[in-house]
Amino acid sequence: MKIVSISNNDPTIENLTQELIDIDRQCLGDLDMADEGDLDYWTANRKSTFAAALYDGSKIVGYIDLIALSNNGVRQLKSGDWHDGKIDQIFIADLSSHSTALYLIAVAILPKYRRQGWAKKLWNYSAEQFSKNGYSIRDIYAVTWTPNGFGFLKSFRPEIIGRDSAGHPIIRIKTLNGKMPIANL
Ligand SMILES: CC(C)(COP(=O)(O)OP(=O)(O)OC[C@H]1O[C@@H](n2cnc3c(N)ncnc32)[C@H](O)[C@@H]1OP(=O)(O)O)[C@@H](O)C(=O)NCCC(=O)NCCS
Repeated sequence: MKIVSISNNDPTIENLTQELIDIDRQCLGDLDMADEGDLDYWTANRKSTFAAALYDGSKIVGYIDLIALSNNGVRQLKSGDWHDGKIDQIFIADLSSHSTALYLIAVAILPKYRRQGWAKKLWNYSAEQFSKNGYSIRDIYAVTWTPNGFGFLKSFRPEIIGRDSAGHPIIRIKTLNGKMPIANL
């Protein structure tokens, strides 16, 4: 098993992105319900995202995807009028600005690989990469769609700051000195 960052310059970025969408479909069942947009939309947003994939051999079996939010984006998310499949460009920030709020747009592990700490390892790997590249993370936001999702984020002391239009909790996780908290394995 290995964890690999997905480079936005990867010539196969479209294929990789499709693989991530397939993982989502397998993990969340109904992609329309999850409202996460289509391949063109995902590919267009790659520049503002950091994603890492979990590989078993040559197959992706899980991933994490974090997107940089602008101040407008944070305000919009807090308002609850938020749809992962329709994030406007004014709501996302350029990751290269090196100081940003993050939105955890996805974390998903195929059922066979769950409860073995892989989501935590993907999280910690992301934290290390941001740190290594000198990013200062303001806060981390998420909308928790599932009990497992909330269970996973619970150890980071999430604060529920609102609800989206479907009633899912909108949460904020504090960073310390610009660093993401690390999960205990
Ligand atoms: C959420 C998800 C990514 C967790 O992946 P995972 O690799 O099983 O998570 P980990 O093994 O790293 O577990 C981390 C912690 O999350 C919590 N957790 C994980 N699954 C949980 C569940 N079913 N119920 C409650 N808590 C859970 C636990 O605190 C766990 O720590 P522990 O095993 O030491 O008790 C996985 O369940 C998944 O892909 N679910 C479907 C997609 C999804 O719901 N994504 C989140 C949308 S908001």
